Amino acid sequence: MASLIVTGGRPLSGTIRVSGAKNAALPILAASLLAEGAVALYDCPRLRDVENMLAILRALGVCCSWEGEALLLDPSTANAYVMPQGLSKELRSSIFMLGPLLARFGHAVCTFPGGCEIGHRPIDLHLRGLAMLGVEIREEHGLILCEGRSMTGTDIHLDYPSVGATENIMMAAVRAEGETVIQNAAREPEIEDLQAFLRKLGYAVTGAGSSTIRICGSHALGAGEQPVGCISHRVIPDRIVAGTLLCAAAVAGGEITLKNAVPAHVASVMAKLREAGCTLSAEGDTIHIASCARPREIKLIETLPYPGFPTDMQAQFFTLCTIANGTSMIVENVFENRFKHGAELLRMGASFTQKDRTIVIRGVERLMGTRVVARDLRGGAALTLAGLAAEGETIVENAELIDRGYECFDGMLASLGAEIRRKDTE
Ligand code: EPZ
Repeated sequence: MASLIVTGGRPLSGTIRVSGAKNAALPILAASLLAEGAVALYDCPRLRDVENMLAILRALGVCCSWEGEALLLDPSTANAYVMPQGLSKELRSSIFMLGPLLARFGHAVCTFPGGCEIGHRPIDLHLRGLAMLGVEIREEHGLILCEGRSMTGTDIHLDYPSVGATENIMMAAVRAEGETVIQNAAREPEIEDLQAFLRKLGYAVTGAGSSTIRICGSHALGAGEQPVGCISHRVIPDRIVAGTLLCAAAVAGGEITLKNAVPAHVASVMAKLREAGCTLSAEGDTIHIASCARPREIKLIETLPYPGFPTDMQAQFFTLCTIANGTSMIVENVFENRFKHGAELLRMGASFTQKDRTIVIRGVERLMGTRVVARDLRGGAALTLAGLAAEGETIVENAELIDRGYECFDGMLASLGAEIRRKDTE
């Protein structure tokens, strides 16, 4: 068990480099199965979810090792397509391993991932898309058994622009004979990064970042199509880590500068921080934020698929709104159970009303530090941010949930002047 212990009241200052994106690294790690030779990934974040994905790849026979800043992968020894059950349950997003396993082996077996703390997380769009490529799918005893030795390209229209389903279909379709067109595809930057990686492997994938992605696949693809030698790729910066740090400065007050950021990827977050009264500027890979006075109310935040306001930033802005000068509203359109941090914020003195997926938050002058419990990754980050602004000491329990998405979150905040430390108990 781990806890973060935060003493509130200290404004943030300084400069920090944004780490590589978890949600870009995970599908790219899965896509390493589509390489014939060695791959070197740079800026892959050292997170629990990444280590879990590496454990899954090793179980499938892929050689994985950290060499300084680089993560080296060699899929040439990959020899299995049955995902280890415990690990793939622990990392539910491993469901997008189905695509690359089908592309490499023509078969894939994984555990039904089930829900998690933020929702029941269905995978119908993944399975329907794969079935449209000609994959035969059986579900039995909690397992998903896929056979796709003769996949054929086709037009797939996603009912919802699912990030994972888009990624799964992209990776399977490279070995489907002919063209696959994904309509209503997710437009997240992480999809563009996956496309960039697949193109380095020699695959013809275009359109990522738009709603229409085209993949020209072939059964014949193999070593002959791929560049010789080690293929290297740098993972894009994590826009949610960047947004979380900007929000931390808005909550705690002060001025910070982010390096290795992509301002365009956090445009919706920056717009809402300006509405809250912060001053932001951006140039190249640098974003600067200044926030001194008490945040102003934010009339409405609606979480939406990219480029709308990201659901992964909802909890952090919930915290910001609890201390804003006025009444704010948040609507969580993406996941059905993503307000668990609210109950903990109430214990810190926050005031809000919830009706289904809508929260009306009446800002208070000050939160009070106390013992709170993280229920999910982004909720844990939000409670830590609340501790920065609270009077006295806040202890955030279950901090290992935060480790899933932030490399040393306490270290990041401490480097910006926060009074925060981690306490690990057995
Ligand atoms: C990705 O999850 C991210 N995870 C999530 O980040 C992020 O919150 C989410 O995209 C939305 O941006 C990774 O990239 C590893 P979805 P994913 O499929 O792919 C419904 C974090 O904190 N849906 O776009 O699972 C689903 O129920 C995590 O870093 C179906 O109905 O998200 C949800 O309501 C949390 N059927 C909506 O779509 C399906 O087959 C969005 O899900 C798939 C999804």
